[in-house]
Amino acid sequence: MERTPADVDTLLAEMDRAEKLSLVRGTDDPEGTATGFLPGVERLGIPPFRLVDGPLGIRAEGERATAFPASLATAATFDPDLARTQGAAMAREARAHDQDALLAPGVNIIRVPQCGRNFEYLSEDPVHASDIGRALVSGIQSEDVVATVKHFVANNQETHRTTVSADVDERTLRELYLPPFRAAVEGGVGSVMTAYNRVNGTHMSDHERLVGDVLKDEWGFGGYVVSDWYGLETTVGAANAGLDVEMPGVPEAGDDALDDFEWPDGIPDATHAGLFGDPLATALDDGDVSPERLDDMVTRVLGQMARIGLFDDEDRPGELDSQRHRDLAERLAVRGTVLLDNDDVLPLADDADVAVVGPHVHEPKLGGGGSSETTPFHSVSPADGIESRADGTVTVAPGVPEIEDVSLFDLLPFVESGHDSDGGSTPPVDPSLDAAVDAAADADVPIVVVRDATTEARDRDSLSLPGRQDELVEAVAAANDRTVVVVRSGGPVEMPWRDDVAAVLEQWYPGQADGSALATVLYGDRDPGGRLPVTFAPEEAYPTSDERRFPGVDGVAHYDEGLFVGYRHFDATDHDPTYPFGHGHSYATFEYRDAVAIDESTVEVTVENVADRPGREVVQAYVRPPDTDDIDRPVRELAAFDAVALDAGESRTVSLSLDHLAFSRYDPAGGWTVDDGRYTVDVARSAADVRASVRIDR
Ligand code: NOJ
Repeated sequence: MERTPADVDTLLAEMDRAEKLSLVRGTDDPEGTATGFLPGVERLGIPPFRLVDGPLGIRAEGERATAFPASLATAATFDPDLARTQGAAMAREARAHDQDALLAPGVNIIRVPQCGRNFEYLSEDPVHASDIGRALVSGIQSEDVVATVKHFVANNQETHRTTVSADVDERTLRELYLPPFRAAVEGGVGSVMTAYNRVNGTHMSDHERLVGDVLKDEWGFGGYVVSDWYGLETTVGAANAGLDVEMPGVPEAGDDALDDFEWPDGIPDATHAGLFGDPLATALDDGDVSPERLDDMVTRVLGQMARIGLFDDEDRPGELDSQRHRDLAERLAVRGTVLLDNDDVLPLADDADVAVVGPHVHEPKLGGGGSSETTPFHSVSPADGIESRADGTVTVAPGVPEIEDVSLFDLLPFVESGHDSDGGSTPPVDPSLDAAVDAAADADVPIVVVRDATTEARDRDSLSLPGRQDELVEAVAAANDRTVVVVRSGGPVEMPWRDDVAAVLEQWYPGQADGSALATVLYGDRDPGGRLPVTFAPEEAYPTSDERRFPGVDGVAHYDEGLFVGYRHFDATDHDPTYPFGHGHSYATFEYRDAVAIDESTVEVTVENVADRPGREVVQAYVRPPDTDDIDRPVRELAAFDAVALDAGESRTVSLSLDHLAFSRYDPAGGWTVDDGRYTVDVARSAADVRASVRIDR
């Protein structure tokens, strides 16, 4: 429910300066559950305000919550309605834990395939990231919790994340990196978190042009801007740039022992806090920050408190681990699963004898490491999920040793060691590859379950699967030509065995419903609904394989590939990706016909399910601009998408709306510009599988 912050001005007028200052700098949460805490002002009836991580579910300290699939899986659903439902469910869980703001969604564009946080992000494409991000924001805020879109902006790598400068030109910022944030602002997001990195040399918490001018003045953002944790570098610079709240505001446990600690790359110095404490008071005394600016900061925080009803005398009970949240976690995991290849081996017959092979088949893959880690009430491992669904025999064999899990928390001196992000039982210490190969040879279908390990604060060293997992797949595939590989990864991985196996499923990090969602897809109880939000290709084929671009040299990551990120890059080069953006099979087959431009912003196409089973198709529209002599433009850019569920034999006409931006380019001199000319709209199954094209004159 939207509420007007009627009493905010009155409250502000009654507050003294110390009370105002207490609302712009975090402090310790007496309950110990929040990630960030503002104490409120008891005298005036302003309650405490709690902020909590993160995009995959609620990470209230010491508490449990539904572990939803990774954001990348949510994005792979290409289903904004489902994303909105997830946002609402996470918000109800936040409220059940007495939290008021959720530190989600993360909407940074996937620029670097190795980035350790890609699993927390949405897409390599700004329209797709905007649509899914906006839906998550809308869902979160529909349940009276503040959404926090992060990390503003160009936080596209974890290597040197606290120091690196993303050097990126204005057009690329506007067309690629800023749109998901702008979409969130247009969707009414209550909070924006600044990134740890610099953009063109200026730290994002000090970035007056991007925070003050673009976000607040140009886009009209009325909520509060919060720093990333220990991510503030200055007091006066940040306050005047437009930063409103410092988090967490207090040094980690006030621990003197940390004074000499050498902070590993990617970890912010957690002794560096309190810049909006006494130093801000001094800056106000000295006239370096105006009292009006402080009032604006406080007004923005109070405005969000009012909007979510914190001044109303109402209970905010929330909902935790309900049946509908469990079902939703599974539905998302199923719909986010991408069937990359299928040589008629899937779906499995109910009575197929299967071998479930892989070093982690007894563990659910909840998520990656870092601030988004959640602890669920219950979870299902791949082995358990398949065992409960199968009518045939199920043989389980790890095959090769476990891979090493990684978590940001293992790098922190003040977090207890022995942190276990995924739980689950431990398979035998010395697994036998021969036993796995024998089990595979005896089975009708071997299912090899493999995974990567990614975390906040670290980028992956390579796109290869870690440990001996490739060797395992190759050995199993040599023993049985009906091998199915199930990949769980935080982004693209290389699959050298791809041509030797019968099917490949990408499950991302599926969350608590892992094994049950997997069984649902394997046995065809539901269609694998997902499509790729990111291009899969060999590591050296990405534009960021040049170290100037990633991780950068001399503290600078040069974004000089410009707009040519993801499929925009592959379209412009001769290199075919392994799997293109938007790719994914259904168990059904679809035909496209009668594509037509209804007017200059609407394209319709009829899609028919020509299979004998129901399926879900994601219809994509890409715009190809007219040739321009002097301006480099991508070959095609996603403009709209829509998913349709069709029964066997059913046809439906799908309407795709292309907004003004779909035809625009950003001209640094003149702003958003639509060039006159003939545009082509490709109606497609992926960026590389165009089914029909229509022309639109603008
Ligand atoms: C740092 C992360 O970058 C951010 O996403 C998270 O919300 C905060 N830590 C709080 O945990």
